[in-house]
Amino acid sequence: MRVCSVVGARPQFVKAAVVSRKLRDVGEEVLVHTGQHYDEALSDVFFEELDIPEPEYNLGVESDTHGRQTAKMIAALEPVVEETDPDVLLLYGDTNSTLAGAIVGSKRDLTVAHVEAGLRSDNWEMPEEVNRVLTDHASELCFAPSQAAVTNLAEEGITDGVHWTGDVMYDAILDARERSRRRSTILEQLEVREEEFVLATVHRAGNTDDRSRLASILDGLASAPLPVVLPAHPRTVSRLEEYDLWDRATDELEVIEPLGYLDFVRLLDAAERVATDSGGVQKEAFFLGTRCLTLREETEWVETIDCGWNRLVGSDADAIRDGLRDGWEPESNPHPYGDGTAARRIVRLLETQFDAEGSERQF
Ligand code: UD1
Ligand code: UDP
Repeated sequence: MRVCSVVGARPQFVKAAVVSRKLRDVGEEVLVHTGQHYDEALSDVFFEELDIPEPEYNLGVESDTHGRQTAKMIAALEPVVEETDPDVLLLYGDTNSTLAGAIVGSKRDLTVAHVEAGLRSDNWEMPEEVNRVLTDHASELCFAPSQAAVTNLAEEGITDGVHWTGDVMYDAILDARERSRRRSTILEQLEVREEEFVLATVHRAGNTDDRSRLASILDGLASAPLPVVLPAHPRTVSRLEEYDLWDRATDELEVIEPLGYLDFVRLLDAAERVATDSGGVQKEAFFLGTRCLTLREETEWVETIDCGWNRLVGSDADAIRDGLRDGWEPESNPHPYGDGTAARRIVRLLETQFDAEGSERQF
């Protein structure tokens, strides 16, 4: 079995790391990095900390408008697929790198497999929603992290090739939690103590690319009863500059560089609560038992809301302040995202589809 895995952005490195490890035990993997994220802090550090093999190909696409970025990825990925002739193209999540892979795979009549299939926000203004829906519809194999994702796919008529696997990010966090406690010194470096600070991240285009929304989020965070640490994505940093909002950063709302995975997991594990618009961070907070305020109006990770670990607060400063001050207690502790063996399940499913020689068996 030869698998071509396509990654490009920070959360995809985390997801691919756990699958890649299992995959390389039983088959051949050609890892392609589109280059969507290229800064050391958004890319290399994940490969080092998660021991991800050096990508066989780096397409070097970097930042551009969404259309041009996706088009460049498609143009650069197609010859790689032609040259390496994989049995399956394995895609992760909902970025432009995911969509580019889905288009190349379907145009070349390859089997496309999508990890984290079936998530929906029903918000078509999010570029990620477009990427998810198109990718799922171009995929022969949909690996769904939750039962809600399976239902979402069924509602769009996608039932063949759908497999509930659980969430690979749970596998990743189980591995990283202990390692981060042993290895990370980030609490000491930032001079914060367990349960005595709030962690925040903001990078979603809908929040960062609108001055009043970004200012309102920063005002809400600044009203926290505890110090706030905000490792900022480069997109956010450039908007803080463009909108002249750097004065919102203070000793109590500390804006720092993006962190490596182990330092970030350590902070998330130790934080009193987190405020974020990240998809991955909402789930990781849930896995680590850290209460989460989501800086959006909706979420794909509905289970975290249902059980009371996550609250939607949007971008309104007052709602954020109330959420940061309210001492709510989560209602239950379910396991909607599997048991930490999602990567193994995915690799087994791929194995059952393709025999050792790489010929397709069945769907
Ligand atoms: C992308 C994904 C988003 C995901 C996020 C993970 C899409 C449409 N968006 O958003 O779903 O949640 O990654 O972090 O695919 N930049 C740098 N250095 C880098 C990369 C980006 O400075 O290494 C800056 C550039 O100014 C760029 C901006 O960040 O224009 C946005 O980068 P881009 O990859 O387009 O989208 P993200 O916001 O990172
Ligand atoms: N992350 C990190 N350092 C940071 C911020 C996030 O290592 O400074 C990790 C986080 O633990 C999670 C992933 O990056 O695994 C989430 O990425 P992001 O929020 O950029 O994207 P999303 O999940 O929203 O697509």
